[in-house]
Amino acid sequence: MKLSFTKSFGTLLLFIFLYSPSLYSGEGIWLPLFLKSLNEKEMKSMGMKIKAEDIYNINKGSLKDAIVQFGGGCTSEIISSQGLLLTNHHCGYGYIQSHSSVANNILRDGFWAANKGLELPCSGLTATMIVRMEDVSTEVLMNTNDDMKDSERRLIIDRNIVEVQKKIQKKNYEDVMIRSFYNGNQFFAFVTITYKDIRLVGAPPESIGKFGADTDNWVWPRHTGDFSIFRIYANSSNLPSEYSPDNIPFTPRHFLPISLDGVSKGDFTMVFGFPGRTNEYLTQEGVRQIVEEQNPVRIKIRDEALKILDKHMRADEKTKLQYSSKYAGIANAWKKWIGESQGVKQTKGLERKKTQDDEFQKRVNADPKFEKYRSIISELENSYKELQPLAIAKEYYSEGFQRNIDLYNCYARIKRLITTFEGKSEKAFDTERLKMRNDAVALFKDVNISIEKEVFKTLLEIVIKGVDPALRVPYIMDKMRLYNRNYAQYTEDLYSQSMFTNSDSLRKLSELTYNDWILKVKADPVWMFYEELNYFLTYGIQNRAGLLEDKIAGLRRTHMKALMEVFPEKRFYPDANSTLRVSYGQVDGFSPKDGMMYKTQTYLDGVMEKYIPGDYEFDVSDKLRKLYETKDYGVYAENGKMPLAFIASNHTTGGNSGSPAIDAHGNLIGLNFDRVWEGTMSDINYDKSICRNIMLDARFILFIIDKYAGAGYLIQEMKLVHPKGKRKKGKMQLGNF
Ligand code: ARG
Ligand code: ASP
Repeated sequence: MKLSFTKSFGTLLLFIFLYSPSLYSGEGIWLPLFLKSLNEKEMKSMGMKIKAEDIYNINKGSLKDAIVQFGGGCTSEIISSQGLLLTNHHCGYGYIQSHSSVANNILRDGFWAANKGLELPCSGLTATMIVRMEDVSTEVLMNTNDDMKDSERRLIIDRNIVEVQKKIQKKNYEDVMIRSFYNGNQFFAFVTITYKDIRLVGAPPESIGKFGADTDNWVWPRHTGDFSIFRIYANSSNLPSEYSPDNIPFTPRHFLPISLDGVSKGDFTMVFGFPGRTNEYLTQEGVRQIVEEQNPVRIKIRDEALKILDKHMRADEKTKLQYSSKYAGIANAWKKWIGESQGVKQTKGLERKKTQDDEFQKRVNADPKFEKYRSIISELENSYKELQPLAIAKEYYSEGFQRNIDLYNCYARIKRLITTFEGKSEKAFDTERLKMRNDAVALFKDVNISIEKEVFKTLLEIVIKGVDPALRVPYIMDKMRLYNRNYAQYTEDLYSQSMFTNSDSLRKLSELTYNDWILKVKADPVWMFYEELNYFLTYGIQNRAGLLEDKIAGLRRTHMKALMEVFPEKRFYPDANSTLRVSYGQVDGFSPKDGMMYKTQTYLDGVMEKYIPGDYEFDVSDKLRKLYETKDYGVYAENGKMPLAFIASNHTTGGNSGSPAIDAHGNLIGLNFDRVWEGTMSDINYDKSICRNIMLDARFILFIIDKYAGAGYLIQEMKLVHPKGKRKKGKMQLGNF
């Protein structure tokens, strides 16, 4: 090849500019279908050794065949030819809990099925794989245009989707779902296959799987052994079937080999899974409202609820058991929102958004063909501002009276019963009523009414004082006047006069015939409280908010389309929407604060540093301490230390939990389970300077299975590899490597 010096130098510069790893932003939750055209070059420049078609291929087994949506909300991956499934401990938690009892507390003690016959069926648990995806935008958007009203557009789209769904080719055991991408500008169809016989194979004790619990949640440096193991079962044709003792382990098209060689700073990593929701293309005002208006309200309310729960949980063992799962749920989002707002502030995220909005506006103003986009940013801003008081009121009511109040669950349950059965036969109602009677105990199993009252009273006061006076619920305000704003007394009366506050009265209620039942229900003060709240939410707030929300959705769709036209040189990934995605990045630390640096890897040594004997978050079992003292790490150690977790710049979000971290060769290197707290703003403003995902080191998982649990027979099923050639000398008892 003959090129002049300047030309080849220019090409080189361009190449460096486009593909230099240091320019790589880390941002992106990419569609597997387009990796070849959009990402492969960059991924290779960052060290990836496999091809895009090794990741996603519908004609032969590829990495995607090992990626499984776990129970709807998490990700998992297949790690053996016999359908062994790896996911997080916090993803398997409910199923581990459902097999736990006081006599056999496997949540506390861990569980390892000694053979397949002892694996535990998990009713309701599903494992979904993607057979293929297809762009169906043309078909779904047929007969729509930019000028039509949004409501009209939606009707047409809904109709088109039904047609497309019928036309997609699929086997009778497969499903089709159609999802909107780029805020409604594109549509993809997914053909999926869902397995329904999933069994629990193994889980470490909580002291490992949940080590550090809420204190360490979202935190780096991290030492949580957040994993659990399941197995997919299929019928004799390897197809989905409900649980049956005759089912056999599923044979996958592909499973992930596991690397024993670990990672070092700068290594290529990729996370493949089902991220839930992001909003990366908001304008400045959109982000501002989240971090400056919405989050503070949510945080303020949860601060108080959590303070009360924590006080009681620390004082009483039974309460701790009852509330730990609820507490974890409330605390998880609460802590994330705090990190999100702080991260945007620290990295000047709003200024960054402003610069982006301004650049967009500049280009739009400069080109007559973009005339139709000229007012989009200001229209969005105006609509957001108009919506704001309504959105904030909604936030107060949902956080203050629904999300953190158990009484609401009871009301919601009865409400469902009524709306489903109003006007239907009494017989149908009777069956449901009996179910309700049986459920009554479960509904209150984890409720302590005196704690609930304390929470309700406290949140009531916050809501009344915080909500815009024009958006207060008249019924509740009447009560407040009647009680002279004595929140405690009102709460006391509400709870003591209601039948919705304990299982006995709820059971008694369900003894009644429909007519008596409905009279009692409708006279109940808790029922009235929530009915009035609902009525106000619907007719006092949502009737206006809904219109604005629709308008904003339409504007965001146009804005997204405009961004893609106005910045043709940029690559755009669609926001996460619980569909299969790839993120990639590099193992990398960062500076969370001036003068401080986070390293990339943690070790078992850190567990011992955090160890607090007897503490419910930081206790360490004798067995693990012994392994640490004798350094009995088998082949899983690195320079005499046991690696535990690492961080990298993969762009992830909720739903990515349980996703595999994959190395340059397509091997499993870690298990994604969290993000660093400083960078939780990545859902609305990814910034490589502080956004990192946290993964459990695959070697730690193997160490726990093999050395801690003595379940080496599971390791024999797996394929362990040495992609970096770091094979260790010495005898290996287990594994096929
Ligand atoms: N922060 C992680 C995620 O968002 C882990 C959550 C586990 N729950 C907890 N409260 N520790 O799902
Ligand atoms: N912990 C999250 C999950 O469960 C992952 C994240 O938000 O980073 O999906």
